[in-house]
Amino acid sequence: MHGLPPVLLLPLQLALFAASAAAEAPVSAARSLVWGPGLQAGVVLPVRYFYLQAVDSEGQNLTRSPPGQSSFKIVIKSLSPKEIVRIHVPKPLDRNDGTFLIRYRMYDTFSEGLKIDVLYGDEHVAQSPYILKGPVYHEYCECPEEDPQAWQKLLSCPTEEPQISKDFASFPSINLQQMLKEVPKRFGDERGAIVHYTILNNHIYRRSLGKYTDFKMFSDEILLSLARKVLLPDLEFYINLGDWPLEHRKVNETPGPLPIISWCGSLDSQDIILPTYDITHSTLEAMRGVTNDLLSIQGNTGPSWINKTEKAFFRGRDSREERLQLVQLSKENPQLLDAGITGYFFFQEKEKELGKAKLIGFFDFFKYKYQVNVDGTVAAYRYPYLMLGNSLVLKQDSPYYEHFYLALKPWKHYVPVKRNLSDLLEKVKWAKENDDEAKKIAKEGQLIARGLLQPHRLYCYYYRVLQKYAERQSSKPKIRDGMELVPQPDDSTSTMCQCHRKKPVREEL
Ligand SMILES: *[C@@H]1O[C@H](CO)[C@@H](O)[C@H](O)[C@H]1NC(C)=O
Ligand SMILES: *[C@@H]1O[C@H](CO)[C@@H](O)[C@H](O)[C@H]1NC(C)=O
Ligand SMILES: *[C@@H]1O[C@H](CO)[C@@H](O)[C@H](O)[C@H]1NC(C)=O
Repeated sequence: MHGLPPVLLLPLQLALFAASAAAEAPVSAARSLVWGPGLQAGVVLPVRYFYLQAVDSEGQNLTRSPPGQSSFKIVIKSLSPKEIVRIHVPKPLDRNDGTFLIRYRMYDTFSEGLKIDVLYGDEHVAQSPYILKGPVYHEYCECPEEDPQAWQKLLSCPTEEPQISKDFASFPSINLQQMLKEVPKRFGDERGAIVHYTILNNHIYRRSLGKYTDFKMFSDEILLSLARKVLLPDLEFYINLGDWPLEHRKVNETPGPLPIISWCGSLDSQDIILPTYDITHSTLEAMRGVTNDLLSIQGNTGPSWINKTEKAFFRGRDSREERLQLVQLSKENPQLLDAGITGYFFFQEKEKELGKAKLIGFFDFFKYKYQVNVDGTVAAYRYPYLMLGNSLVLKQDSPYYEHFYLALKPWKHYVPVKRNLSDLLEKVKWAKENDDEAKKIAKEGQLIARGLLQPHRLYCYYYRVLQKYAERQSSKPKIRDGMELVPQPDDSTSTMCQCHRKKPVREEL
């Protein structure tokens, strides 16, 4: 604060005083709000979660973390004193805006059920304790809900996913015989990264077409996870595990395009897309093998807006030329931009000139007010995490997209930047000069991302893609030569998971 005339200082100080006084209104445990899928027994997820909004005694939502030492605490116990259940309940994630994200991961099934105490000091919050009547199944318990409609309803799956409708518009009917003949020939060569799956009676079978199919561990794990939760339709499909979408035939061409399933879409291809393996895998391994996931990121968004460094930030590998340009711009404009390449592979000759930046933890990105999202080989798969932060995202225009982009609007949820980055510095300057607006866009972006990118929504999305695909098959899926069963992971270390839902009994084909 320099250069302010003295007359302006007084109202400003008053305003600051008023703001901090308001923030210190005490939390009312009774008036605070608690909601979310983790309070429903039937919503089986790798990590269950729910939300808490702190509300003060006047009924006003807190908009920053409650002051003082007192904090929210969660205790989860089995309803049956005899039952010993392994469960991991970390401290609530403070989202720094008066809301908290509460997570728990169960390694066993609660047969009787469980009780969740949500406490503020010694007081119960909202309707706490929450009783979830058993059985409450853990992630690895194989117990599919037989009625997919009921399952989708339980998860509050949206009735419409615009990207799915768009993707399937090109494929009113799916000819499995034609795919069986054409896909191996067109995409299954030496360099291929295609895996051919058949799902029959909720069992998963597959064969690899091509050499580069190690990433099938990612497609396997989500398909198995889905099959444990809900009865999947019988279907036969091809997943492309490579970076680039594959099907470049146009809809009006003959022969027409094939419905290949990929993790990333592009404006000049017809692939049907799924949430990327990155957000999918991190959802499955949250609170186990990974630190960055759609939930953890929300409690690690760095300092409050006013305390963030007013620069645009980027760290990443050299997977696209614009990333090198970004570093060049940063060298010339260090007051606006801090960009660095952390690993060279594609443009090794540039390392000498541009230098190599030290790796920095993803959560530390949010020490900066503006985040630059530049494509890698395809869409940068960090984008979902950046959107969940409370920094303003400056997004490079791109022909590549992920499953949730259609819901995001430039200038409302992020600031668009030209593909060649020619207007990047101008956009950073704009953000610095229009702090309130920049902050508002960052917040709107974060809010929409929090809704779209909830882990249970990924399950909805996957299921819906499989369902739409299955509806369009013009013949029955079959287990083809060379396919093997993908078994469910061993769950024998957990106390027995006794599935009380009826086992699916269906006619053999
Ligand atoms: C208070 O927070 C809850 C949950 O975040 C929200 O649904 C509600 O609209 C908020 N109320 C006001 C007055 O902003
Ligand atoms: C900003 O940082 C200062 C110094 O660490 C701290 O006292 C203040 O509470 C922070 N402001 C906000 C809004 O977090
Ligand atoms: C960058 O792209 C725009 C079109 O988006 C074009 O008008 C402009 O000339 C390009 N700038 C440079 C430096 O290539």
